[in-house]
Amino acid sequence: MNGPSELNWDNLENGVRNCRRCVLGSQRLNSVLGRGSRTATLMFVGEGPGRQEDEQGLPFVGAAGQLLDTALESLSFDPADYYIANVVKCRPPMNRTPLPEEAAACLNYLRAQFALIKPRIIVCLGSVAHTNLVSSEETITRARGKWIQKKDVWFLSTYHPAALLRDETKKLPFWQDLKLAKQKLDEIKNGQI
Ligand code: URA
Repeated sequence: MNGPSELNWDNLENGVRNCRRCVLGSQRLNSVLGRGSRTATLMFVGEGPGRQEDEQGLPFVGAAGQLLDTALESLSFDPADYYIANVVKCRPPMNRTPLPEEAAACLNYLRAQFALIKPRIIVCLGSVAHTNLVSSEETITRARGKWIQKKDVWFLSTYHPAALLRDETKKLPFWQDLKLAKQKLDEIKNGQI
């Protein structure tokens, strides 16, 4: 969180709702904190809200979100096991990629979400999440599908679901990556790791 306030969901929600740390805060309809289980073992992290997310105040509710939801359901992910958030909490104009300074200004909110939820697995959806949370060295095409462990958290990067809408060939690797995430989730839930 920004400033000295205690870390809890109320403070985080208020902080994000009133945030003016970057220019995106003055252009949004709604900030978009996240959706899903606050006791999740796994967090998905996307890029930032699009038009529908801005209108509804929820992440991944447009076409990319429907694709993600369908894939998670097909792989039998239990909604109690995951939470979905973004690197930036306010919509970039014209859905442009968030600027590095916008991501930097917003990252403490995501860190607060990590601290509250304490996920054991973080799946980066696309290069913005991968760059900000894992590494800026490799492209998403090279980095995807590989586990990286930092302390007791497992990171996996994959394509952003919106990329699948533009390029069908990304669907299979995306599906394989989500299967890896589900396997790891099951191992953690079964106490194997
Ligand atoms: N794309 C994202 O990265 N996040 C959303 O919430 C919606 C689309």
